[in-house]
Amino acid sequence: MRMYDIILKKRNGEVLSKQEIEFVVNGYVNGEIPDYQVSALLMAIYFKKMNEEETLNLTMAMAHSGEMLDLSGISGKKIDKHSTGGVGDKTTLIVAPIAASLGVKVAKMSGRGLGHTGGTIDKLESIEGFKTVMSDEEFIRHVNDINIALVSQTKNLAPADKLLYALRDVTATVDNLSLIASSIMSKKLASGADGIVLDVKTGNGALMTDEQDSIELAKTMVKIGEGAGRNVVALVTDMDEPLGFAVGNALEVEEAIETLKGRGPQDLTNLCVYLAAYMVMLNDGNLSFDKAVKMAKDALYTGRALAKFREFIIAQGGDDNIINDTSLIKKGRIECDVKSEHVGYIKRIDTRKIGSTLMTLGGGREKKEDGIDYGVGIIVQRKIGDYVNKGDIIARIYGNNEASIAAAKKNIIESIEFSDSEVSKKQLIKYIITKDKIIKKLN
Ligand code: URA
Repeated sequence: MRMYDIILKKRNGEVLSKQEIEFVVNGYVNGEIPDYQVSALLMAIYFKKMNEEETLNLTMAMAHSGEMLDLSGISGKKIDKHSTGGVGDKTTLIVAPIAASLGVKVAKMSGRGLGHTGGTIDKLESIEGFKTVMSDEEFIRHVNDINIALVSQTKNLAPADKLLYALRDVTATVDNLSLIASSIMSKKLASGADGIVLDVKTGNGALMTDEQDSIELAKTMVKIGEGAGRNVVALVTDMDEPLGFAVGNALEVEEAIETLKGRGPQDLTNLCVYLAAYMVMLNDGNLSFDKAVKMAKDALYTGRALAKFREFIIAQGGDDNIINDTSLIKKGRIECDVKSEHVGYIKRIDTRKIGSTLMTLGGGREKKEDGIDYGVGIIVQRKIGDYVNKGDIIARIYGNNEASIAAAKKNIIESIEFSDSEVSKKQLIKYIITKDKIIKKLN
């Protein structure tokens, strides 16, 4: 087999075989195929696309390019949840304890934030003492004991994806559906879960801004999961405004705790109930959707999920006093209100810009190696469709540096557009995609 022939085949729009795809992935990981040839192939894939079977084969080859996590030491089904990334997306902090409190085994690996989107590990590390690294034995023991453990990805999972993603990043080939779907799913498959609930974000703060593209991505990932023998459900959800109000690691932990106390923002609470319900349904195939939603709501409103969150924090070395007294959560020293300079209905929020504003404050990373300030962030107090008077507070900034706060304030004001006429609220959960149907959700 020659790399040249594979590039030519794809350039001409032909379908690559499983063997050819494996040859590329293995050859690239082993250093036998140079960057320039893989770059050429990526560009050919970008223009000529891959079909379903090629996408599945690419995913499987990437998933098997490194370690495959062995979760067989955990009794019962393991159910994972993954978001394609958003602004203010702290759902894992809420959904994982809800599901775990209902008997679902949540053995989860999460990532750090990069660019305008946040990461669960950073949020958890903003809790004093919380450990995100542990041995395999400890990880498995925690899940067997309390149904939940969450660690950062330190293993050599899907190394082909790391290499290919870095190359895509510098060759303008990131935004291809097959490449995105295989990148996400290879890591999920390597992390060993039996069932996966995907939250595919759509809107101006998401990886996919176009709704139809997001649906296609969700469908592709569900198909890959099924092809790999896993149960996968995808929710396509709005990211045209931040989820909840809080954006910033420590602030998001505080909002997650409020939500687990049953006092969270409505959008965040609703989405968490849905995501947890699907995790419960993947765990127990006999449950109806209505029953699973009721179970998730009960866990949330009876304090059962909060108790599980406490167990989880204690098990991983974190200070659980923050649950009773959220004022112990360390936030940025300087508080600054952002007041509206306009009257009217909020029409549009540049969500990506809000996410980038967290970087301006020092709470997000431009490069993987960057350190971050956990305490800084923004509470975006208003949603699309809200009526605002001139001088009303629209956001509160928590920062540690006057210059960055001034820059953040300017960004937030520029991010929000107004209209004189009424604007409807955003629909949060747009579609639910399972292996055999697409449900359009009218909430
Ligand atoms: N997230 C991933 O893990 N991979 C992509 O290609 C895009 C987003």
